[in-house]
Amino acid sequence: MTSDHKPRVILLAAVPPDLRAAIDASCEVVAAPGAALPPGTDLAELLKGVRGALTTIRAGIDDPLLARCPDLKVVSNVAVGYDNIDVPAATRRGVLVCNTPGVLDAAVADLTMVMLLSLGRGALDADRFVRSGGWNAGAFPLTRDIAGKTLGIVGLGRIGRMVARRARAFDMDVVYYKPNRDAGAEAEGLATYCDRDDLFKRADFVSLHLPFNEATRRGIGAREFALMKPTAYFINTARGSVVDEAALIAALKANTIAGAALDVMEKEPIGADHPLCGLPNVMLLPHIGSATVETRRAMMELAVKNLIAAACGDRAPAMVNP
Ligand code: DGY
Repeated sequence: MTSDHKPRVILLAAVPPDLRAAIDASCEVVAAPGAALPPGTDLAELLKGVRGALTTIRAGIDDPLLARCPDLKVVSNVAVGYDNIDVPAATRRGVLVCNTPGVLDAAVADLTMVMLLSLGRGALDADRFVRSGGWNAGAFPLTRDIAGKTLGIVGLGRIGRMVARRARAFDMDVVYYKPNRDAGAEAEGLATYCDRDDLFKRADFVSLHLPFNEATRRGIGAREFALMKPTAYFINTARGSVVDEAALIAALKANTIAGAALDVMEKEPIGADHPLCGLPNVMLLPHIGSATVETRRAMMELAVKNLIAAACGDRAPAMVNP
């Protein structure tokens, strides 16, 4: 195929050489600036005239942008989440949105357990204790067992189920809430269904595994934190905007809850001056749920397959709006 006939694509994510070669074989790459665009970049200008775009969650694809890019037919996000894209607008304008489901579940579930265990056993405080010389002055305060504690999972999708499986291996009781009960997970003994309010009341750890959309926006707030036990911990590896961040900060400041671990924030990245950074009872991670070599490779492979297939008019393996 000559480049005249190849679909024009842009790569807003860094692609390893072998996968880039696969893209070059079927598409004409008009630009490959990667994910970190200079501030003030007009993304619509960049996307004009291209048929496909490989994107990360840092690229905001909204309706005004789509209106300015009538040639754009596929947005392949290197992420399972696609809240950076206005999917209804894309659908209306005939733009296919693709994502990377299924390949990052274990990595995110592992990180959730790292956060849960670190919170429960005071690992970060213990590290600071040693580094600051506290050990010479006495013993580190006792923490609590993980076994026998209750994990409340809000949203039992693929990742939530993997978290449940891991928590069961630590002999935790796992309860879950989602609008439609998961008979399979219950039959497998992974988790017990719980009324939403009861979950917040009962859990020693609450972990969110919800997508962000208009229905979930700031769905966890002051009311939910007030329901939680003062000894309970809150964990979010999903999306920051599912939580009312101001309400979380207030709960952490007032010690309404014991602490939190967050891999995601409402606006990312955050700097050292963010109010969360001043709180001693929160563990903050820089959105690294899927950030392992193997998982990021698998995500990139799937996203590249999606891009090539859809740009060439074939069926993409993972479509959000088929
Ligand atoms: C996802 O895939 O949605 C992750 O949050 C991005 O790292």
